[in-house]
Amino acid sequence: MNEYLTNGSIWTDTEGNVIHAHGGHIIFHNGTYYWYGENRTDNNYVSVYSSADLMNWRFENNVLTVSSKTASHRIRTNTMLTNEQGGKINIERPKVIYNKKSSKFIMWMHVENGVNYDLAACGIAISDTPTGNFTYLGCFNPYGYMSRDCTLFVDDDETAYFISSSRDNADMHVYRLTDDYLNIDKLVNKLWQGEYREAPAVVKKDGVYYMLSSYCTGWDPNQCKYASAPSIVGKWSTLSCVGDSTTYRTQPAFILQTETGNIYYYSDRWNGDDYDDSRYVILPLIINDNNAVHLDYQDTITIK
Ligand code: GAL
Repeated sequence: MNEYLTNGSIWTDTEGNVIHAHGGHIIFHNGTYYWYGENRTDNNYVSVYSSADLMNWRFENNVLTVSSKTASHRIRTNTMLTNEQGGKINIERPKVIYNKKSSKFIMWMHVENGVNYDLAACGIAISDTPTGNFTYLGCFNPYGYMSRDCTLFVDDDETAYFISSSRDNADMHVYRLTDDYLNIDKLVNKLWQGEYREAPAVVKKDGVYYMLSSYCTGWDPNQCKYASAPSIVGKWSTLSCVGDSTTYRTQPAFILQTETGNIYYYSDRWNGDDYDDSRYVILPLIINDNNAVHLDYQDTITIK
């Protein structure tokens, strides 16, 4: 049993296998936390692990793979899970939310063709259960826009938002989703024009929305910044620095508010030379009464 996790070390699941859940996301459902993330080993795209305590993770399933079931949900959706060369496509930053109306688990992700980053599309997948298998519903460019690093956020009224880097990462778009979370309803804002923010991660505390994001330097870490707003639509504040100049050699994956109310910054410490050896760093995210956000480094973490 893990009493604590050592940041940046190799983390293993309850079977002793390396955890592959990069650029991921955690949801809480019926008393269990589910951690989804990128798994680029073999024919896998996205894996899920489960935990009751956020410290010990059991491998559940490779929920999206090269051979996942596909269904055409939209007109002119690209449902290919391999590219023209027959190789793997690139699926990044998978996020999963639960739709209370349909009782479905909905995944949104960033999709590229595995050769370059020109597709800049968002993809959707759906499942009846948190551990899959997910059916891939294809990828598209929202209103024709580029869509790369992304996140999902469900507000208290169950309205969901998809947030992604657009215009070659220059602007951050905020899209409101349809009630079934399977399509975009409206582009509600374009944030920080020309600031090149990516790796967005959102949390809401005491009625205020906070978004962390990184600058664009590929696998290399850079200065994380945050902004706050009284509504997810805006008006968002200008960007302020959080953490040190490399954010302790991390890039945001997502922010988790646990069932006890504590807030944690989950991040990737990427290894661009050996992707599968990328590591995780989790830090407490401190939000002060004056809406200022702080991240301090610590070698180990016990999540509560
Ligand atoms: C980063 C991005 C990652 C991945 C990487 C590839 O900027 O946040 O998700 O796309 O670039 O170089």
